[in-house]
Amino acid sequence: MSDKKIVVISGAGISAESGLSTFRDSGGLWEGYNIEEVASPQGWQKNPEKVLEFYNLRRKQAAEAQPNTAHKALADLENSFEVIIVTQNVDDLHERAGSNNVLHLHGELRKARSTKDESRILDIDADPIELGDLAEDGAQLRPHVVWFGEMVSMIEVAAKEVIEADILIVVGTSLVVYPAAGLIEYTKPNVPKYIIDPAEPQLYDMKGWVHYKENAGTGVKKLAEKLKKEHS
Ligand code: APR
Repeated sequence: MSDKKIVVISGAGISAESGLSTFRDSGGLWEGYNIEEVASPQGWQKNPEKVLEFYNLRRKQAAEAQPNTAHKALADLENSFEVIIVTQNVDDLHERAGSNNVLHLHGELRKARSTKDESRILDIDADPIELGDLAEDGAQLRPHVVWFGEMVSMIEVAAKEVIEADILIVVGTSLVVYPAAGLIEYTKPNVPKYIIDPAEPQLYDMKGWVHYKENAGTGVKKLAEKLKKEHS
């Protein structure tokens, strides 16, 4: 067991090979839906049913999806390193693959919360949320997901993890949504940084980065083997 701490920042791309749409690839979610209408407080005010329907569909799809090789390779890495997963994803594929330290920056599809008291969070598994479904405090339930314009309450916790990272792995994210994308700036100097993505990364400076230009399924497995060999 190495004493090195690996922090992984994952995005929708790691779940693409599990059949879940990304957001900004061609055919991605934001091609089919208007972000404002389905993922913002304004959209919720205007048409809550539309928002609930959007997340009910994604919750069902996520529940039917299976963790892929990349999720499993990251879970396996916990046998050799301390691994913290900071994910922008709202699916639970990291957990279902066996990862034990998963920090959801943008919330979780399988949770709902009161629109009055945001600390009232309940696990709804794959169940839909309908208008009229109330929390214990009598307020309408909403998805426990961070909408555009809302606070990312876990960002400070996530930044602390990245500061302590000995190795940083970024997989399956376009790094265009802040504050999540800004986490990569928190690493100590000279920390090895890897990015796994078939597309060119949106990094203004590739210095200090190794790019695995391939899908997560093969790239994460390859990198995990390399790290285990190097640090065993
Ligand atoms: N393996 C690895 N990476 C992939 C794969 C794959 N099989 N398929 C696509 N990708 C990459 C794309 O090249 C892209 O860089 O995954 C990234 C997906 O980017 P986005 O669709 O922007 O998803 P993400 O970065 O997670 O979005 C961030 O935006 O809409 C909000 O809250 C939402 O959490 C989301 C945030």
